[in-house]
Amino acid sequence: MRLFTLLTAAFCAASVTASPPFRGSALAARQKASLPHSFQWSSSAPLVFPKEDGRDVAALKDPSIIEVGGTYHVFASTARADGYHLVYFNFTDFSKANAAPFFYLDQSPIGEGYRAAPQVFYFAPQKLWYLVYQNGNAAYSTNPDIGNPAGWTAPKTFYTGTPAIIQDNLEGGYWVDMWVICDKKDCHLFSSDDNGHLYRSQTRLVDFPNKMSKPVVALEDTDNKYALYEAACVYAIRGGSCPGKYLLLIEAIGSDGQRYFRSWTSNKIDGKWKPLADTEANPFARSNNVVFERGVSPWTKSISHGEVIRTLTDQTLTIDLCNLRFLYQGMDPATPGSTPYNSLPWRLGLLTPTKPKLY
Ligand SMILES: *[C@@H]1O[C@H](CO)[C@@H](O)[C@H](O)[C@H]1NC(C)=O
Repeated sequence: MRLFTLLTAAFCAASVTASPPFRGSALAARQKASLPHSFQWSSSAPLVFPKEDGRDVAALKDPSIIEVGGTYHVFASTARADGYHLVYFNFTDFSKANAAPFFYLDQSPIGEGYRAAPQVFYFAPQKLWYLVYQNGNAAYSTNPDIGNPAGWTAPKTFYTGTPAIIQDNLEGGYWVDMWVICDKKDCHLFSSDDNGHLYRSQTRLVDFPNKMSKPVVALEDTDNKYALYEAACVYAIRGGSCPGKYLLLIEAIGSDGQRYFRSWTSNKIDGKWKPLADTEANPFARSNNVVFERGVSPWTKSISHGEVIRTLTDQTLTIDLCNLRFLYQGMDPATPGSTPYNSLPWRLGLLTPTKPKLY
């Protein structure tokens, strides 16, 4: 474990400093030598559970997480028989995560009704935090202080209704999992349809959150909708070196019926997504590349809807490839198949990398 940590650190330091002194083929060789082409993880036990507080929440799902000044801020969906809402909590150490008080966001101006699958990020040009979520449309609320959960504004939406291309492609799917990432000029809004399509809209940074364009298909799988299902995350990458500047993760349903994550990279947010680790045999995160920490029984076979922990707070969503941690939802595989979807007992767990395998 310690050896791997040292190797990772050394590798990352070497590749970061490689740029100026190395030229031409030496640089290319050095960079090629450091492409991550497979991932291996160690999982914690379930870390956060629903509380016995009379709310009858069956599951915590879809976490979005950011670390600011030593505090982890988590936004998640709460699932219960009558539907979905959002919860916020914070902690400074994962061992104390389950003790964090829950602030249910129906207690804020976000209000009651269907809200799910949050994404939180700081939009530096406006000095505002944005919470992006689904409410039947693609919605957002803003707040100058991430630590003041009562301070979120009432929902507004990015679109006037379900865009035509999504209606046309939906065929029994659901329009879900909105995600915003910005580059220097534009902000991009991704979403999925549980039917094999990843969509992207954009607006100029100076116009955000207004004037979102009509969505286009950013990636699709017309043969197998389960291979490109939902929960897309897009990040800018720093540290190490990678085939692209951006990393795309999408949740799939595997041939074993369990959830897992595939990955792609691209040089541009609106560019072509090239496979990185995108198969069941070589996934981003799946039961076959996740081991459990010593003493932790394998409590889930699904590695489902989650997020890389961000430590940089701006709208570029930049993550350090040398320091990936992934907060995800998992579920006891012994859960009866007859359990209604909204009552499935999802809990939150944490993946940390074990052996970085490099080209
Ligand atoms: C943590 O959450 C509580 C609400 O449960 C909030 O009052 C507090 O300000 C938050 N702490 C930080 C450091 O943001």
